[in-house]
Amino acid sequence: MKKSIPISNHFCPQTLFIYGTYKEDGTPNFGLFCWFSYYFDREMGVMACIGGNKLTRDRIHETKVFSANLVTEELLPLADYFGNIEGYSEGKMRVPVETEKGRLLNVPVLAKSPWVFELEVDRSLPLEGGEVLLCKIRNVLAEELLCDETLSLEKRMETIRPVHSIRQSYFRWDGTEFGPWGEPMQKVLNDLKGR
Ligand SMILES: Cc1cc2nc3c(=O)[nH]c(=O)nc-3n(C[C@H](O)[C@H](O)[C@H](O)COP(=O)(O)O)c2cc1C
Repeated sequence: MKKSIPISNHFCPQTLFIYGTYKEDGTPNFGLFCWFSYYFDREMGVMACIGGNKLTRDRIHETKVFSANLVTEELLPLADYFGNIEGYSEGKMRVPVETEKGRLLNVPVLAKSPWVFELEVDRSLPLEGGEVLLCKIRNVLAEELLCDETLSLEKRMETIRPVHSIRQSYFRWDGTEFGPWGEPMQKVLNDLKGR
């Protein structure tokens, strides 16, 4: 039996991506995003929703390009930090993070993410307070292990272990709860304090 409840997507697992953009001074900025999916228009594209003003949005407007880096259990503390600390606040990017440059686009890429889209905005639909971006996928960077067709899909997914967001918590690939939003980043904050 189902019942009508207040509008939410609470029990609908969401895959997490870290978006990477270059700031005006050429250094990278990263933010965490989950309103991300795909559409079709002759080829597969990516649709992304950004709500409210944030540095990632400003930089995408300016450069028209960004990277979307799949978040894994290993990356979660950093991802949670990127999702809870504003790019507008000074020093967000003081954290140690290994980055590379995109192969096709001028976008920063997280070395530790096993799957990265290099995206170019094709159309942006400004809404009231938010915005939907329709993006062309210019390149996909995949960890070599993912290209090994002798390994089962299950084995490959168990190796990379992407994270899901459900309600206001993170879940591991095996379905167990990792912790609420804001918790995994404590490790990053403690490391920063200790430096
Ligand atoms: C789990 C999680 C998912 C998020 N997903 C989105 C999203 O899909 N769209 C959005 O606009 N903000 C989202 N945010 C908020 C941004 O990560 C946050 O505004 C962050 O400050 C963006 O980075 P920036 O300020 O450096 O641009 C999410 C935050 C968390 C913790």
